[in-house]
Amino acid sequence: MTKIALVTGANKGIGYETARLLAEQGMTVLVGARDEELGATAAAALGARFVRLDVSDDDSIARAAELVAAEYGRLDVLVNNAGITGSVEGARGGPSRTSRAALRQVFETNVFGLVAVTNAFLPLLRKADAARIVNVSSEVGSFTSMTDPANPLSGMAAIVYPTSKTAVNMITVMYAKELAGTGIKVNAAVPGHCATDLTRHTGDRSATDGATVSVHLATLPADGPTGRLLTDGGRQLPF
Ligand SMILES: NC(=O)c1ccc[n+]([C@@H]2O[C@H](COP(=O)([O-])OP(=O)(O)OC[C@H]3O[C@@H](n4cnc5c(N)ncnc54)[C@H](OP(=O)(O)O)[C@@H]3O)[C@@H](O)[C@H]2O)c1
Repeated sequence: MTKIALVTGANKGIGYETARLLAEQGMTVLVGARDEELGATAAAALGARFVRLDVSDDDSIARAAELVAAEYGRLDVLVNNAGITGSVEGARGGPSRTSRAALRQVFETNVFGLVAVTNAFLPLLRKADAARIVNVSSEVGSFTSMTDPANPLSGMAAIVYPTSKTAVNMITVMYAKELAGTGIKVNAAVPGHCATDLTRHTGDRSATDGATVSVHLATLPADGPTGRLLTDGGRQLPF
């Protein structure tokens, strides 16, 4: 049976490449995007289907879940990829420069949106044989990496984006616990530093490199891991 996969934030960057690679594997791919024109254009280029989905908007999430329920009746793969670093004042810089508005903006998408989308689609994921949930995280969300003096990331002192991904990591573990024994696997993906709009194209890896990590976790076999933070080739990173 053809697998149904939904990727959030799939109109560009790592999400677009994830959608492309999942389609290449023969899956029916739903390109989740908040912008109608960008989403429809991306879906057309991929030969995939556009689903309007703004992860910060509960009505949009509910409508997307209703559409998938009505048209497909189940969901095999959910890639929670949509993410931002924040555009309001106080999103960047050290902890002392962090604003409440920036935390709210970034958590709304990266954290609250991820949980809202997952819960809206869980009934459909439970209807699949062995669903996979991939939460796109970042190494900057890892306590171990950020505090290991040997890791270049340990020189970074910022709150907003890193703590949103730390939350994603814990959320991943908690879903994996609740869903243990259901056949559903829930893992967090570390794409590495990829050249996308999010990094102002500074990354040393391509969006395809990052997407390959998500695709690996979206296609894990029955004996694959769950509740882990994983990167290239399924290599486990410490939380
Ligand atoms: N690039 C890296 O080096 C890197 C490293 C670690 C983790 N990540 C993570 O990888 C994921 C993808 O990032 P990227 O680098 O591909 O960034 P990107 O090119 O900026 O793409 C982000 C995607 O998320 C979408 N998005 C943002 N807010 C949304 C919302 N409320 N609802 C639906 N979609 C929304 C964007 O849509 P619009 O076009 O409408 O804005 C866009 O499609 C993110 O979770 C990011 O944190 C990236």
